[in-house]
Amino acid sequence: MRAGDLPEVRAIAAAVHPGHPESDAVFAERLALHPPGCLLLEAGETALGYAIAHPWHRRRPPALDTLLGALPEAPGVFYLHDLAILPAARGQGAGGGALRELEELTGGLPMALVAIGGTEGFWQVQGFAAVPDPALEAVLRRYDSGARYMERPVSRSGDRRR
Ligand SMILES: CC(C)(COP(=O)(O)OP(=O)(O)OC[C@H]1O[C@@H](n2cnc3c(N)ncnc32)[C@H](O)[C@@H]1OP(=O)(O)O)[C@@H](O)C(=O)NCCC(=O)NCCS
Repeated sequence: MRAGDLPEVRAIAAAVHPGHPESDAVFAERLALHPPGCLLLEAGETALGYAIAHPWHRRRPPALDTLLGALPEAPGVFYLHDLAILPAARGQGAGGGALRELEELTGGLPMALVAIGGTEGFWQVQGFAAVPDPALEAVLRRYDSGARYMERPVSRSGDRRR
């Protein structure tokens, strides 16, 4: 993903996450803070999806639509802020493929995310497990009533799953 892709990324976000809007500044900041973790899925010239991830603190998922300011010097997880695939491109392995690309970038950290919109099953298939923590309830409820903080431990072969 490059800065010039951000209008397409925001259009995908608006289509995929109408109930979870985030400001343009959030996308621009994530890309500026950690460009390698920002992926664009394209078919030819058409953007079909994106992934945004960055090193972060363990068990501290950022609230929705919030700027980070800076990345931690000693991160505890590689945090997947968002993975969004347009409906027409789903079910063809793009989501799982993006995750495998991100796995190469974790630096050996466990991955973490907030599962929203009934996607907990997808994340379980990908090896994530919910981490119940009452201290996270307030921030999770700002996503939606079913939002879950999930982590995936580092696999024995490093951080890679195939
Ligand atoms: C979740 C999402 C990224 C999955 O992307 P995708 O490209 O359709 O996923 P894949 O094709 O790689 O599917 C991988 C596997 O997960 C399964 N899967 C996909 N969505 C699932 C779901 N909601 N629940 C359970 N399993 C699911 C697939 O059946 C597939 O299993 P298989 O390999 O045994 O066939 C996509 O549906 C999406 O963008 N959803 C809307 C945005 C969203 O909610 N993102 C997550 C924010 S936390």
